[in-house]
Formats: sequence, structure tokens, C-alpha cells
Amino acid sequence: MPKSTKQGVATYMSANEIRFSAPDIGRAEVEAAERALLSGWITTGEECKSLEAELAEYLGVEHVIAMSSCTAALEIAAAHLGLPEGSRIGVPTWTFVSTAIAPFHRGLRPVPLDIESDTFNLSPTALAAALEDGGLDAVIGVHFSGTPLSTQIHQLCADAGVPLIEDAAHALGAQDERGMIGGKGTAGCCFSFYATKNLTSAEGGALATDDPELAAFAQSFRLHGLSRDAWARYTPGAKTEGYDILGDGLKANLPDVLAAIARAQLVRFSDLQARRRELALQYREQLGSIEGLQIVPKELPEGGADHLMVVLLPDGEDRSLVQKQLSAESIGSSVHFRPLHTFNWFADNGLTSGPGGTPVADTYADRALSLPFHTMLSSSDVERVCSVLSRALTT
Ligand SMILES: Cc1ncc(COP(=O)(O)O)c(C=O)c1O
Repeated sequence: MPKSTKQGVATYMSANEIRFSAPDIGRAEVEAAERALLSGWITTGEECKSLEAELAEYLGVEHVIAMSSCTAALEIAAAHLGLPEGSRIGVPTWTFVSTAIAPFHRGLRPVPLDIESDTFNLSPTALAAALEDGGLDAVIGVHFSGTPLSTQIHQLCADAGVPLIEDAAHALGAQDERGMIGGKGTAGCCFSFYATKNLTSAEGGALATDDPELAAFAQSFRLHGLSRDAWARYTPGAKTEGYDILGDGLKANLPDVLAAIARAQLVRFSDLQARRRELALQYREQLGSIEGLQIVPKELPEGGADHLMVVLLPDGEDRSLVQKQLSAESIGSSVHFRPLHTFNWFADNGLTSGPGGTPVADTYADRALSLPFHTMLSSSDVERVCSVLSRALTT
């Protein structure tokens, strides 16, 4: 049974259900997808080019190259570093597996590093220790939950002459002291348009950069390393001389049907973000009265993209029991993230954490819980989540 018919489009949640995540798809997205589907060109073409131009303008960056995912964007940024096989790339241990597996696919060895206890972003102290004596050849920083990386991370990488790739899967619309997060001065900024993200096209991603050389590399690498895409080869009036292979590549282009959906979301993006901010403020006010509960980060960051609502349960609470109690009341929840170094895959591949280990991540690994957070939530949904959580913690 549809819960609401926002902008004429139903969302199929039962009246009582509060999903952990739900896409905010309205009539504009449906019409955009239909426009692309009926245009006679459904894979990468004009819609994709328009999305790239519109995103570049929004971010204030020279180049945006749309991709099939953030994972692909990360892999392409890692490939562009041109580092020898076995080079070491520092990553925060508190992230999704893509952050580590994408560079691993390009022959790099991810080194999980500890996080700051406030933002859960990469810790400057852990990074400084790992960089000492040339311990890292590159770094990927994650703007966790849309909280911008500390400028200290940029400085440490610059001082060490080590390239920094930004994993901005949670951070479209986030701003730091340098302006909009979008690859300024870094080795590429990678966004995700996955179904749970603050701008979604179901699946998708993008790489943003001011570097024309990285942009040209990414443009070709996302499509098998070809010199010209299908749109440039098959459309009427296109030159007929064919194409060359410039190098290695992936099949990671974004089809026009999805690009059209992303464009419709971008038009609504400031409204969507404003609603996220309202919900974040409401959550913070209502969770504030729950004894022993902390929110990540402790203070709402002014330039944050408000991607998740992560709380740290009081020490000793059984997280899976709390999740079961929420679930019994039809409330979804999730965990962001299980630290990378705890997965067997790392040990199986002989990958070990940086110097000093990961004490902060280890302290919070069993305490972090992500509450429902998306723009389909009503204020009364947030009230119900907070009151059920409060009850779960006192029983
Ligand atoms: C921090 C982080 N990086 C990368 C990704 C991968 O994004 P995608 O699904 O677009 O490849 C995610 C996805 O959830 C993520 O949370």
C-alpha cells in the first residue's frame, strides 16, 4: 500500500513501515526517464553530456565524467596514478569496501588507517604516522556521512608529495573552507548516485576534477580505453574514421536513461538537501535526550551533506538486539560501517593496518547504528524512530 503520493508518485511503504532508505522519486524523474527512453538513444549520449555540464557548473569544477558507479570512478582515479604494482594506498578503515577494492583491482595494496573519534573520517594522526618514511604512495580520503575531510589531510598529503583521491560517495553538496567538495587540488573526486545516495539515478557515479589530463584519461578509461564513444561514432554527421584504443579500460559508462534521472534530481537537489538538514536537526534535538547516546559527528557540520544519521549506542548495549527491536516496530536500520580490517579478505590477501593500528575504529565497531534517514521521512516518522530507540535502550 503506498504511503504517500508525493508529486504524484507512490512510494510503496506500508502505512506503519519506516524504511532505512527510500529513493525520493517524483513525477520529474519519471518524465526524465521517459524522455530518454523515447528519444531514440538510450545509452551514453546527450543526456549524459548535459548531466556532466550541469554537475560541473554546480560543483564549480572544470570537468565531470559520469560513470556507472563511484566504485568505477575510484578505480579509474587509482589507475590514473600510474603507480607500480604493490604500491601502498592509505584508506580509512571506516568505509565501504569499494574504497579499498577499487585500487586493489589496479594492483595497489590498501592500508586501512584509523579514524577521528568525532567525525569518523581519516585521522590526521594515523595518516601522519603511515606517511612517515615514505610508508604510503597514495591516499583515499572518505568524506564520511558527508562531513568534509579535515584540511589537515590535504596538507599532510601535499607535504609528503602523495596524491589524495576523494571518495565523496556521501558528499555531493558538501563544502569545506576551500568551497564545494569537487576535486580541487586532489587526484580526483568520486561521487555515487546509488539508490541510497542524496542524489540518485538508481546506479551511477561521477569523477570531478580540474585536471584536463585526468578528465581525458577518465573519459576514455570508462569506455574500454577507446578514443571515441558510441555517440561520437554512430550519430548522423559523425566522422567515419573509426576509433583507436588509447590504453587499458573498463566498461563503466552511464546510460542516458539514468543520466536523465540524475538531471531531474539535480534540479531538485537544493530542496532535497534542505529537507535533509531539517530532518538532521530534528533527529539531533530528539536524540539529545537519550542518555549515553552520541551522534556522529558530535556537532552538525555546517558544510556537511547530511548523508546518514549514525548514532553510537551506549557501551555494552547489544546492537543486534536494538536492531531487532526497531525491526519489530517496522523500522529499518543499518550499520555504516564494519571496519575494513575486520574482514577476512584483508588478512587473506596479507593486507595489514597502518602503524599504531585502529584503536578508535575498534572502540566503536560494535556501537555504530544508522537510523532511517531520507527525504521521504515525515517529522512524525523521526519522532517514532526516536521514541522506539529510546524504549529499546531502556529495556
Ligand atoms: C563511502 C563509499 N564509497 C564508495 C561507495 C560505492 O558507491 P557505488 O555503489 O556508486 O559504487 C559507497 C557506496 O555505498 C560508499 O558508501
